[in-house]
Amino acid sequence: MFRIGPVELQSNLLLAPIAGYTDLPFRILCRELGGVGIAYTDLLNANALLRGSERSLELAATNDLDRPCGMQLYGNGDDPLPEAAVWAIGHGAQVIDINMGCPVDKVAKKNGGSLLLRDCPATTLLAERIVKAVDRAGGGRVPVTAKMRLGWDPEHMVAPDLARRLADVGIAAVTVHGRYTVQFFSGSADWDAIGRVVEAVPSIPIIGNGDVVEPEHAKALIERSGCAGVMIARAALRTPWMFRRAATLLSTGTVGPDLSFNDKCRAILRHIDLMERFAKPWYGVKRLNQGIAWYGKTMGHIKPLKETIRTATTFDAMRAALHDWMTPERESVPAVLRGRELGLEPSEPA
Ligand SMILES: Cc1cc2nc3c(=O)[nH]c(=O)nc-3n(C[C@H](O)[C@H](O)[C@H](O)COP(=O)(O)O)c2cc1C
Repeated sequence: MFRIGPVELQSNLLLAPIAGYTDLPFRILCRELGGVGIAYTDLLNANALLRGSERSLELAATNDLDRPCGMQLYGNGDDPLPEAAVWAIGHGAQVIDINMGCPVDKVAKKNGGSLLLRDCPATTLLAERIVKAVDRAGGGRVPVTAKMRLGWDPEHMVAPDLARRLADVGIAAVTVHGRYTVQFFSGSADWDAIGRVVEAVPSIPIIGNGDVVEPEHAKALIERSGCAGVMIARAALRTPWMFRRAATLLSTGTVGPDLSFNDKCRAILRHIDLMERFAKPWYGVKRLNQGIAWYGKTMGHIKPLKETIRTATTFDAMRAALHDWMTPERESVPAVLRGRELGLEPSEPA
């Protein structure tokens, strides 16, 4: 059992916010596959939420299968972040997360994200306002967390200082992606630097993030940095079943076999069902057209299957293609290709 403030989580493995991917169907899929302590929405623009923008409301959609749900907000000190946080509580959020790490120009040049790393005192004041508003509206039941990078660039490694300040004003946990803003996704995540944040802030859980591609990496990140939990992003898009494998490794010391080829197809079939149930058809089809490129990376030589799903225009066409590939001999064959053996560098579309 792992806690973020008053919220108890079944595991210390967290599904990261991933813009364009962590919609409601995908969050439910990861939870059903097991091992997920909490899943976060995409980053949500505070102004757009309060305006009732249709896209933002879709991104914030949650339901009882999606518990506990973290909603991630972004904005700066001039934006109505406290009001958006109160809105999120009223719409199903059990945890509010503030984005302090997005490096994308649209966000970081004016609206927030990594921009918040450039002025720690102002960011702390903003966080304090959000915590107070959330405490009032949520009666102390809803913790506020922050997700940050190490700093804007290596000359400004602010994460230990900023995390300490945030803990002092009531932030309940901090996730640290072990890269600087200027790196985007290049290089590798610095797990030792995450350890420096852990040392600086003993009072709240620090969650490590960056380059956890295999279950063994989750264990290694905890051992290397001392972090209390691990957040996983890109690997979840390839292998949403890895949370369960990592949770098993953390609790028993043994990771167990990888899923068989057919079991991976079953997970994709379930993703299709959830898309059909909880998303608009045009969106669901498009999302799965793209998603197969991620899934396919650990399924061996399946180019024709990938191509069929990439170009399919209906859920049923995708289902039929998967069923064609699920032959009896693939039932017990583990899909042996894994992470770095496949040459999967962690940099993917940003
Ligand atoms: C396509 C994409 C979209 C992302 N969107 C968000 C986001 O909305 N909010 C956020 O805090 N981080 C976002 N991230 C960063 C991830 O949450 C995570 O910090 C980063 O990918 C490192 O973790 P990983 O090595 O497990 O992928 C995004 C990353 C990717 C690749």
